Formats: sequence, structure tokens, C-alpha cells
Amino acid sequence: MRALVIGAAGFVGKYLVEHLLEQGDQVFAGTLKEPIPQLPDTTFSVDITDAGSAAELIQRSRPEVVYHLAGISFVPEAEQNFDKTLLVNVGGTNNVLRQAHLFSKETKVVFVSSAEVYGQVKPDDLPIRESTPLRPANNYSLSKRMAELLAERYVRQGALKCTIVRPFNHIGPGQDPRFVASSFAQQLARIALGKAPAVMRVGNLEARRDFSDVRDIVRAYRLLAQGPDGVFNLGSGVPRPIQSLLDTLIRVSGVSVKVEQDPARMRGPEVPELFTSFAKAESAVGWKPSISFERSLEDIYRHWHDVESK
Ligand code: GDD
Repeated sequence: MRALVIGAAGFVGKYLVEHLLEQGDQVFAGTLKEPIPQLPDTTFSVDITDAGSAAELIQRSRPEVVYHLAGISFVPEAEQNFDKTLLVNVGGTNNVLRQAHLFSKETKVVFVSSAEVYGQVKPDDLPIRESTPLRPANNYSLSKRMAELLAERYVRQGALKCTIVRPFNHIGPGQDPRFVASSFAQQLARIALGKAPAVMRVGNLEARRDFSDVRDIVRAYRLLAQGPDGVFNLGSGVPRPIQSLLDTLIRVSGVSVKVEQDPARMRGPEVPELFTSFAKAESAVGWKPSISFERSLEDIYRHWHDVESK
């Protein structure tokens, strides 16, 4: 399969490139700046907010599948800069979809949206299914929903093949430390190594989220690229309080810490609980998660311990 990964240098993009190569795909990468070491001859620099740049990328790579992962993914960043979020997440996606459509109606786009599009979910709606009403509640989710609407229009018009994936929280070694699992693991590793006092800074520990491992998520992307068009939720199916993520990481690190709430880490009103059914993906392509929450957190902690030891 000739596959193009847009956003290949990001946290998920790197795992996806590795997985596609392992599976024997011919992989092309689009990145804003960073080269992809495994793809010295097939990495192209792209700025998806520039239609000409997106066009060149698609024409040079001539993909059968485009995995579109590029975008602003940190919720507070989108809150702070809505203009940029619209430009990248909506305008950029529009450029990718349009150029894929102009290249070939047979090219399949896997557009990575987000579980956040469900927004203000009511307790009766849990677990979330693809049919659950969408009530985007912040700048990030609004941008992802707008981009989904663009993709849906192409599909309705028969102008493109497209699968929209809505991953719930996914974690793993190498994630930016702005995200909760990496943030906590990095702090704990620094404490364990004596580089910081034994005080953890945290945000809202009461929110319940559905965590899965990035290695399972990229496996789903490839399976779904070969499956039917549609919308698919991806997650573990298990709601976990952020407090339990913290407790597990503290246990893994073996350190004793004082936990302090940091007002700067608290967000505006948050949806208290988000978790999904992954039944639709399982019945369409046989996907289910295989890596446990504990193993993901152990791997993330080990990663940060290595990084901070250097
Ligand atoms: N980042 C962070 N840092 N989050 C904290 C902290 C902290 O110190 N303390 C508590 N939290 C809580 C947040 O309030 C949120 O409820 C939860 O931990 C997860 O936060 P993030 O890891 O920042 O992820 P997210 O839920 O905002 O978004 C992630 O998941 C989406 C899908 O559900 C991202 O990966 C998005 O790109 C993705 O679309």
C-alpha cells in the first residue's frame, strides 16, 4: 500500500510510520520541519495551511491512502489561539481533502478527528457511540467538528473516500509533556532522580477519561484505512479518573510525593466523564486494544526516566 502520513514527525505520526513500515507499506511522510530518519528519500516538507504546498506533497507521493494527523492537538493551546487553530485544523484539513480529491477519487483519507467532538456528553449517553449527539464545547472540538463536516461533504458528493476516526485519549512514550500522562511521568522521574523537590503539580484529578496506548491506536488507523468509509470511535472502553493515572504512576516510580493542585493546570468547565464503546471498529475490522493501561504507564515512566537521566 502506498501511504502518505501527514504530521509524520508528531507523537502519533512517528508510531504510525513505524507500524506501516513493519507492515510492508511504502511510506511517504509530510512534515512541517523535522525529517523522518527511516524515510530519508520519501520525507517531504509541507505546510498544510498552504494549498500549493499540500498539492505538491500529494502529487509527489501519489498515495493510495493519506493519513491526516497534522494539527493542533493540545486543548488549552486551541483555547488560547482560536485563529491559528482554525487555520491549521480546519483550513489545513480543507487543503488536504481538496488536494486528495483532485489527485484521485480512489484515494482514501483517514482523517484523525477527536473524541472531543462529543463535547457535553450526558451521563445517559455513556458509553459514547458514533451515533451519540455531537456537542463540541471548546475551540479544539469545534475545529475538529468543522473539519469533519468538510470531509463528510466530500464523501456525500462521492468525491473522496474517507474514514473519520475519533480517538479518545491515547498515550505512550514520547508524548509531549504538556499532556497529562507525560507531564506526571516526567515530574516523577525528575523527583526520583533528585532533580526536583518531591512535589507534584497537577490539574483536575476528578475528570474521568478513556486512555489507550498509541501503539494500539495506530494499528487501528491502518486497519480502518483498508475498511469501509465511516466514523469510528477508538478507545479502551474503560473510564479512568485522572487520580488513578496519578496513583499508578506514583506506584511505578516508587517515590513518595506531595501532590499540589496548580491553578494554571486547571481548565474551564470540563466534561466530567468521557469513555467509548469500540464495538463499531471491532465489528468492521476486528480491532480491539491489546496494551494495558499499566503497561503504557510503565513504558512512559521508563521513557522519562531515561530522558531525564541523560
Ligand atoms: N495536560 C494536563 N496536565 N492535564 C491534566 C493535568 C495536568 O497537569 N491534571 C489533570 N489533567 C486532566 C485534564 O484536565 C484533562 O481532563 C485530562 O487530564 C487529560 O488531559 P490531556 O492529557 O491534556 O488530554 P485532553 O483530554 O485534553 O486531550 C487529549 O485527548 C483528546 C481525545 O480525547 C489529546 O490527545 C487530544 O489531542 C485528543 O483529541
